[in-house]
Amino acid sequence: MKRFEVMTERLLLKPLGSEYFQTVKEYSLDYDNTRYMCCLPNESEEEAADFLRGVDAEWDKERPGFYEFAILYGGIHIGAVSIYNEEGMGELGWILNKKYWGKGFAYEAAQALVDYFADHMGMSHFIAHCDTENAASYRVMEKLGMVRTGEWGGRRNRSASEDTFEYRYELVLRG
Ligand SMILES: CC(C)(COP(=O)(O)OP(=O)(O)OC[C@H]1O[C@@H](n2cnc3c(N)ncnc32)[C@H](O)[C@@H]1OP(=O)(O)O)[C@@H](O)C(=O)NCCC(=O)NCCS
Repeated sequence: MKRFEVMTERLLLKPLGSEYFQTVKEYSLDYDNTRYMCCLPNESEEEAADFLRGVDAEWDKERPGFYEFAILYGGIHIGAVSIYNEEGMGELGWILNKKYWGKGFAYEAAQALVDYFADHMGMSHFIAHCDTENAASYRVMEKLGMVRTGEWGGRRNRSASEDTFEYRYELVLRG
């Protein structure tokens, strides 16, 4: 598909891909940066490179199943925000390099994606999941206007030694 960018007041969202390998591995291999995430940290640089090759390949498809964006702030790559197409619903995800936490960037990037996908892709139903301990992440969901619709156990984050609990949030846009 034709690649596209989304601009916000402070950020530029550009298709993620292999050219961001150096900066992706800075956060994706870091335990503190990823402790509440299911599929991270990456266990090797090769695993991060493989992920980025998959992202490149997805952008090359006529109808991508997911869209991963690099978040750029003043030209610096600071993280990623994504939408996965889950049977017509957009599943949102985000990660920022920990140097950039607490400045409202995740919310700003995610809000811009929701607006873009609503306006240009006709998407009106968004979901997101996070570990129940991940307050920064579910605060972003709440700031987006998402509502908690589920909680269950049995989630195993990659770096956790025990199962944890997970929240599900939803946003349905009307009109
Ligand atoms: C989740 C994450 C993307 C949030 O990014 P961010 O840019 O710092 O988030 P924002 O600044 O937009 O908003 C965070 C909100 O959570 C709040 N918050 C942050 N840490 C918190 C904590 N430990 N307890 C309670 N609230 C917290 C902030 O105060 C802010 O809310 P406010 O605007 O009402 O004050 C970032 O913490 C991150 O990259 N975490 C690691 C990766 C990850 O866990 N991703 C999500 C997987 S589901």
